[in-house]
Amino acid sequence: MLSFRSAQTKNAAIQNSKEQLQRDWLRNYESLKEENAYWIDAIEGEIPAALHGTLLRNGPALYDINGQRIMHPFDADGMVSSFAIANGRAFFRNRYVRTEGFVAEQQAGKVLYRGAFGTQKPGGWFNNVFDLRLKNLANTSVVYWGNRLLALWEAGEPHRLEPNTLETIGLDPLDGILCPGNEFSAHPRIDFHDGTPRMVTFGVKTGFTSQSVVTIYEFDEQWHVIHRHAYGLPGVMFMHDMAITPNHCIIVQNPIDYNPVPYLLGIRAAAQCLVARPDRPSLMVVIPRTGEGPMYTFETHSTFIYHHANAFEQGDEVVLDSLGYDSLPLNGSGPDFRDTDVMDFPAARLWRTRLNLKTGQASTQLLESRNCELPSYHPAREGQPYRYLYLSVAAQAQQDSPLQAILKLDLHTGSQQIWSAAPRGFVSEAVFVPRPGSEQLPPLDETKLDESTSAEDDGWLLVLVYDAARHRSSLAILDARNLVQGPVAWLHLRHHIPPTFHGTFVPEWFGPASA
Ligand code: CO
Repeated sequence: MLSFRSAQTKNAAIQNSKEQLQRDWLRNYESLKEENAYWIDAIEGEIPAALHGTLLRNGPALYDINGQRIMHPFDADGMVSSFAIANGRAFFRNRYVRTEGFVAEQQAGKVLYRGAFGTQKPGGWFNNVFDLRLKNLANTSVVYWGNRLLALWEAGEPHRLEPNTLETIGLDPLDGILCPGNEFSAHPRIDFHDGTPRMVTFGVKTGFTSQSVVTIYEFDEQWHVIHRHAYGLPGVMFMHDMAITPNHCIIVQNPIDYNPVPYLLGIRAAAQCLVARPDRPSLMVVIPRTGEGPMYTFETHSTFIYHHANAFEQGDEVVLDSLGYDSLPLNGSGPDFRDTDVMDFPAARLWRTRLNLKTGQASTQLLESRNCELPSYHPAREGQPYRYLYLSVAAQAQQDSPLQAILKLDLHTGSQQIWSAAPRGFVSEAVFVPRPGSEQLPPLDETKLDESTSAEDDGWLLVLVYDAARHRSSLAILDARNLVQGPVAWLHLRHHIPPTFHGTFVPEWFGPASA
């Protein structure tokens, strides 16, 4: 009897902690409507004296318009945050991107656009039928390249922002390179390998039932186009990220189909008409960066990929590390993302795929089975063999729950370090910032592993953490060599920030002039 009662108590405790986790996770998705600018005065620990520059992050932050719910984070308006850090101090600012749709909806006080992922205009199907306009949300990432700060959203042109104030300058067609409505990815890759930095990125025009077209762009730091080439692939294309090596781009066609009828009729959102096809292989296509030379197409194990970690060349092989879901993880049990079960969360695993350009063979290996996403590593290792990978992960290895911890993986020895913000903290992407002097690295040499990688983890991880106990967010600064000791500094904000997707750290100070 006693043991029965203790089992009952234990079950009740587990149930309570599940409900707590569900409430905590959901509360982070409350809108942040205020725009702020202030010196952060609540700092625990010490900001490293050598850390100098600005962390910029972007993410959806408006989860209701005058009380009408936005049904999926991918449908919510983008807000950019900045942390300007110098001399042990930090200045915070957040501001919505003034897209055409954001301004119109704020003026109207109601939803005027259908969201691609679940939000419909009020008034039922009759009010949504054949309305195929897209609202550029500018909500996915931010990049600073060639003296332009751009808020990125993959299905349209970037928005240019003024970096010190985060004011919106407007849509940026990149000196006429983009035409109105041209797709421009939120996942540019910056290649530093030969001392001449290049930005390699892409745009996908999905054909739904016909052919899709992927355009690959390569820019120098003056925004001159070095390479630009386009490829047609049959059927619907949902590609969020692309990997690069010095010689190749690697694009992936996820196994999905599309039935546009419910979308056209105003019954369902566009992305709700995607159909997972886990019975079909994924396609991985290796394309020459220059656009000249052979293309290689591989059929690999069926998986759905949003993000790649890194890729590199090794002998005849292109090696690609990706975060793969069992299948399309878009739709929860119902139309509202809030119904997602935090104990049965869409989970990605880290996979390594080897694509042999000589034999045409592909092989896949599971590197990490814990739910993991949002990869980060030393920027000098882009497209290169690398040793250390940082991931946002679930707090428990066996539990597919939200991202609450940061994992450091040594890809050569298999050793791991973890820092967890659980039970009530939730983590964003960890941005790796090299310590000044460690920005450049020698190539990884497996025969001299420690010597050639000694500086690869010499730096910090900047992680935005939501603390549900206080309903506030904080920036945690972790020493990338020693995650286990916990943050060396906490910069506590006066409010929460809804979960952000991606960001960047730049050495420039984008804070008040009087720093
Ligand atoms: Co992304």
